[in-house]
Amino acid sequence: MTDIERVGVVGCGQMGAGIAEVCARSGLEVMVAETTGEALELGRTRLINSLDKAAERGKLTAQERDATVDRLSFTTDLGAFADRDVVIEAVVENEQVKTEIFQILDQVVTRPDAILASNTSSIPLVKLAVATSRPDQVVGIHFFNPAPVQRLVEIIPALTTGDGTIQRAEELVVDVLGKHPIRAQDRSGFVVNALLIPYLLSAVRMFESGIASREDIDSGMELGCAHPMGPLRLCDLIGLDTVASIADSMFQEYKEGLYAAPPLLQRMVDAGRLGRKAGSGFYDYG
Ligand SMILES: NC(=O)c1ccc[n+]([C@@H]2O[C@H](COP(=O)([O-])OP(=O)(O)OC[C@H]3O[C@@H](n4cnc5c(N)ncnc54)[C@H](O)[C@@H]3O)[C@@H](O)[C@H]2O)c1
Repeated sequence: MTDIERVGVVGCGQMGAGIAEVCARSGLEVMVAETTGEALELGRTRLINSLDKAAERGKLTAQERDATVDRLSFTTDLGAFADRDVVIEAVVENEQVKTEIFQILDQVVTRPDAILASNTSSIPLVKLAVATSRPDQVVGIHFFNPAPVQRLVEIIPALTTGDGTIQRAEELVVDVLGKHPIRAQDRSGFVVNALLIPYLLSAVRMFESGIASREDIDSGMELGCAHPMGPLRLCDLIGLDTVASIADSMFQEYKEGLYAAPPLLQRMVDAGRLGRKAGSGFYDYG
């Protein structure tokens, strides 16, 4: 059985909010950190809205919803993570930002065998591990979007990760959170994004070269291959900045053209058209 009760989640964007929700719904006490009071309030609203929707759809009772909210707390001070048993970092896909967070977590988290996990999609775990004085306790725990719905979690040990950390991470994912784990080596993109990202980039290239409209590209894969969502809609769901950052990390890792982000993707990121979270991307969301 797991000895994890107190979880810290760094970042309350799409993924951080979802991960915090999954943990709190599973009975864990969850503290969420964001950069500013404003970002924290946005994240809190996102999380509460998601719980309300789940209650409306009958996925949890009103009592369970309230108990889940009671298990959540919010802070802008990572120092408040001192008593955490596990911390899951889910901030922007940027190596420098993540490295700084792991350095701070290393200083503030007091439990000697605490797990320091990252939800990164593509940044080498070993780089985050060696930024700390406890590289054996750093591991990738990679959830999928939306985290409360998607059953898969990738577990990615760095070269430095200890067997005890891997085992406890897997117990958390399976026994406590009820997710389905798969293991992957610490190679950019792991399993799912290594397959998914080249496909998404191909769809952007196809749209950019005018071969078909965005709707027809998406309908092609939805109706022709029974995908629940076409690739351009999926880019919008993931966030175009995140897709571009993952592609950049993978390109840096493998130096192969299929991972190179097409110019249109970068221009859309520069224009702030990041997808659903920004109100517009390949489609408009009002
Ligand atoms: N979007 C997806 O589909 C998806 C799926 C799996 C994994 N991921 C990974 O999850 C991570 C987050 O992605 P996202 O989609 O939630 O991005 P997002 O843009 O929705 O959220 C990122 C959040 O991080 C916060 N943040 C930035 N710096 C911070 C700091 N120093 N301290 C605390 N918070 C900070 C931002 O304020 C923002 O709220 C990335 O590593 C991404 O690769 C994303």
